Amino acid sequence: MASADVVKAFRALRVHRADLETRRIVDLFAEDPQRFDRFSVALDDILFDFSKHRVTGTTLARLCDLARAADVEGRRAALLGGEPVNATEHRPALHMALRNLSGTPMLAEGRDVMPEVLAERRKMEAFAEAVRTGAIRSASGAPFTDIVNFGIGGSDLGPAMAARALAPFVAEHLTLHFVANVDGADLGDTLKRLPLETTLFIVCSKSFTTIETMTNARSARGLVAARLGEAAVAENFCAVSTQLDKIAAFGIESDRVFGFWDWVGGRYSVWSSIGLSLCIGIGAEKFEKFLLGGQDIDRHFAEAPLERNVPVLMALLGIWYRNVWGYATHAVIPYDQRMLRFPAYLQQLEMESNGKSVSVSGGPVEEATAPVVFGEPGTNGQHAFFQLLHQGSEIVPVDFLVAVQPSGADPEHHRILFANCLAQSQALMQGRSREEVEALLTARGSSAAQIEALAPHMVFAGNRPSSTFLYKRLSPRVLGQLIALYEHKVFVQGVIWDIDSFDQWGVELGKELATRLTALVSNPALATEGLDSSTAGLIAAARKHR
Ligand code: F6P
Repeated sequence: MASADVVKAFRALRVHRADLETRRIVDLFAEDPQRFDRFSVALDDILFDFSKHRVTGTTLARLCDLARAADVEGRRAALLGGEPVNATEHRPALHMALRNLSGTPMLAEGRDVMPEVLAERRKMEAFAEAVRTGAIRSASGAPFTDIVNFGIGGSDLGPAMAARALAPFVAEHLTLHFVANVDGADLGDTLKRLPLETTLFIVCSKSFTTIETMTNARSARGLVAARLGEAAVAENFCAVSTQLDKIAAFGIESDRVFGFWDWVGGRYSVWSSIGLSLCIGIGAEKFEKFLLGGQDIDRHFAEAPLERNVPVLMALLGIWYRNVWGYATHAVIPYDQRMLRFPAYLQQLEMESNGKSVSVSGGPVEEATAPVVFGEPGTNGQHAFFQLLHQGSEIVPVDFLVAVQPSGADPEHHRILFANCLAQSQALMQGRSREEVEALLTARGSSAAQIEALAPHMVFAGNRPSSTFLYKRLSPRVLGQLIALYEHKVFVQGVIWDIDSFDQWGVELGKELATRLTALVSNPALATEGLDSSTAGLIAAARKHR
C-alpha cells in the first residue's frame, strides 16, 4: 500500500493541476524569459529540453516531493547496492555492473561481481575481435562475412536496435542479421540471402529454453549440419546464456559460450554478452564506448540532485501526465532513421517492466501504471499518425530525439530533418487559434461561408507537451547514454508506483497455452473438446484449410 506521504504528495499534485488548467505552455514561456535555461539539462553530449511541458517550478518541486515520499533515493541506493530489488524473483538488478568499466567492486547481495563480469567481458571481446579480424574463421576456412543473432525480446531488441543505430561504425566486411520470430519466414528470408559457409550463428537466450529462439537455432543447426557437415556446427555456432549446461546439450563448445548472470534482466542485457553481435560489428573499443555511455548515466543518476537528475525528471514528467492528467499513451519519435528500432526497444523496456497491476506486496496498485509506448522515426510518422498527435481527442506526450550532426548523411537532408523535428514540438505547443485560421483563410481569398465551414477543422488546440533530446551525434557513447536514461526512468516510475519493474509474469500464460495448442494444431486427430468455442472454431477452420 502506498505510504501516507505518497498519497499526500499525489493529492498535492492533483490540487496543483488546477493552477495549470488555464495556463498555456506558451504563456509560461512569455512569463519567464529564462524558461529554456531553467527547464533543460545539458548532460555531456545530450541536451534534455523539458521546457515545452505543462510544468512550473512549483510542479517540479511537488513532483520531487513525491519522489522523496516514495523514497526514490533509498530505492536507488538499494538498486545500485545490489539488493534484491526484483522482489518476486529474489534477485538484484545489477545491469550497471556490466558497464562499470573501472571494475570498482559492485556487490550483488553482498558479493563482488566485478571479477567475473570483467573476465566474461574480456572473453567475449577477444572472441568478437578474432571474428572481426578473421583470426577465427568459419568452417570453410574463410573469414566470417555474416553474423546471425537468434534471440527474442531482450535477447534481440537491444543488439538489433543498437546495430542499426550504430551502422556507420559496423565493419564493412560484416553484415549483421537478427532473427527473432518463430515465423519461419523470418529465418527463411534471412538465410536466403546468406552464404551459409561463412555465417556465424549466435544463439542468444538467457533461459536457453525460449521456443522461438530454440526453434530457429535448431532449424539453422540442421541446415548447417546437412549442407556443411556436422563438424561445421562447432565452427559456425556460438551461444550466449546464463544456462551453460543447456548449451552443452546443443553441441556448442565451451570456448564458444559466453555467460551472464540471473541478476541481469533480459531487457537490460544488451550490455552483457548478449551484445556479442554488436561487439563483433563495431569492435571491442567502440563497444566499450557504448558501455561508457551507460556508466556516464549511472553516475549522473546516482549523484545528481533529483531536481536536475534527467532520468528522475523523465520519470516524474511521465507520472505527472499518466496519473495527474490521465494521459494513457506516450510517443517516442526519433528524427534519426537509424533509431528505427528504438521505440520497439523502449516498448519492451517500459511496458514489460512497468505494465503491472499488482504492487510489490501483492495488493492492487493504487495509481495507473505504464502508458502505452509507441513511435516511429520522424519525418515518416508525420505522414501517418501525427494527425492524432495534433488534433486527436487523446493527448499524447512526446519524446523527440534528434542529432545535431548527421552520421554520414547528406547535410542538406539533415537540415530539413532537423527543422521538421523542431517544427513538430513547436506546433504541438503553439497550436493555431480560430483567429489565426480566419486571418489565414481571408488572406487566401476564402469567402465567409468557406471560412465558416473550414475553420473548425484547421484549428489546433496546441498546449500539447513534449521533451526534446538533442544529441551531438549518434555515437556508441551517446546511444549508451540514451538507453541508460530510459532504464533509470523506468526504475524510478516503478518505485513510485510500488511495482516490481524487473519481473514479467504477464508473459507466462500465453506461453503455457501455446504449448497446449501447438499439440492440437499439429495433430488433427486430437479432440478440441473443453476449449472455448472461438478457439475450437478457429482450429477447426484451420484444419479444414490445411
Ligand atoms: O517472454 C518474455 C521474455 O522472458 C523477455 O523478458 C526476454 O527478454 C525474452 O523473453 C527472451 O528470453 P530468453 O533470453 O530467456 O530467451
